[in-house]
Amino acid sequence: MKGDLLLFLISIVLPRVHGMVNLTCVSCPLGNTKCGANCTDLGIACATLEEVNTLGGSVSPNGSYQGCIDQQHCRPLAFTLTTAPGRHVQSNMACCSTDMCNEELNLSVPPVGTLENGVFCPACESYNQKQCEIKSHIACTGTEEKCIILAGESIASANQSFAIKGCATKNACSLLQNDLVPFGGKIYKLTVNATCTDRGVLSMISSPGIIFSSLAGVLLVQNLS
Ligand SMILES: *[C@@H]1O[C@H](CO)[C@@H](O)[C@H](O)[C@H]1NC(C)=O
Ligand SMILES: *[C@@H]1O[C@H](CO)[C@@H](O)[C@H](O)[C@H]1NC(C)=O
Ligand SMILES: *[C@@H]1O[C@H](CO)[C@@H](O)[C@H](O)[C@H]1NC(C)=O
Ligand SMILES: *[C@@H]1O[C@H](CO)[C@@H](O)[C@H](O)[C@H]1NC(C)=O
Ligand SMILES: *[C@@H]1O[C@H](CO)[C@@H](O)[C@H](O)[C@H]1NC(C)=O
Ligand SMILES: *[C@@H]1O[C@H](CO)[C@@H](O)[C@H](O)[C@H]1NC(C)=O
Repeated sequence: MKGDLLLFLISIVLPRVHGMVNLTCVSCPLGNTKCGANCTDLGIACATLEEVNTLGGSVSPNGSYQGCIDQQHCRPLAFTLTTAPGRHVQSNMACCSTDMCNEELNLSVPPVGTLENGVFCPACESYNQKQCEIKSHIACTGTEEKCIILAGESIASANQSFAIKGCATKNACSLLQNDLVPFGGKIYKLTVNATCTDRGVLSMISSPGIIFSSLAGVLLVQNLS
């Protein structure tokens, strides 16, 4: 009897001590036309990721993704990034830890400002490549004041990958390996930590009428720092 009681106590106390309770979450693909079977596992959180993107025109869906996520990769974060004029990703993710709680997580995405902020970043996008080659530099807008590099693999199929360089809000720089990010209508898991730099602040150059190359901006910033 004593042994049974001890076992019983261990079985209810241990999982909680280690945060290992069996949690069940709503699981729906991006766009949410039809949800799949609920996901259940130990050591997870329920997540909802809301995204709007203008990358794929009318073919890549906006909306929310819901599912189970490793507790340690739940990074509640709202950010935007831009890879070319008019090509943005707006994302907001949150997690919770009671059964089916992500059904009730209604998130809105942060806006992308339209006013240029003086920061210029190297920019590119690629699908199914680990890196992308810089084809141009873009003028960042609004609160996107960091130059970012991201790369990841689709959570649906590990051999679909993406890589981007562009402008991003500062908090996107805290994205780490295995965090979830939306891109072009799919959800990806980052394969590397986000890399951010400050680049090419052309407003520091006080010669109106002269267009400095972004490289000049890079050299200037490096000389000052
Ligand atoms: C957690 O749930 C799964 C699926 O329902 C089940 O197979 C597993 O035994 C459960 N684990 C615990 C520790 O309750
Ligand atoms: C998910 O779980 C809820 C609550 O237990 C249940 O009502 C619903 O039918 C489940 N959904 C699916 C697709 O199994
Ligand atoms: C997603 O939302 C953006 C911004 O509102 C819009 O431009 C784009 O066409 C939408 N995409 C789809 C597939 O509806
Ligand atoms: C969240 O959205 C769902 C579906 O649109 C709705 O059923 C639910 O009531 C909303 N919850 C809150 C807290 O607004
Ligand atoms: C991804 O893998 C699947 C099978 O695992 C294969 O059919 C498909 O061609 C692969 N796609 C790419 C882009 O390599
Ligand atoms: C990613 O960032 C985390 C937290 O800052 C750090 O512990 C880890 O070593 C980094 N990974 C790589 C590959 O740099």
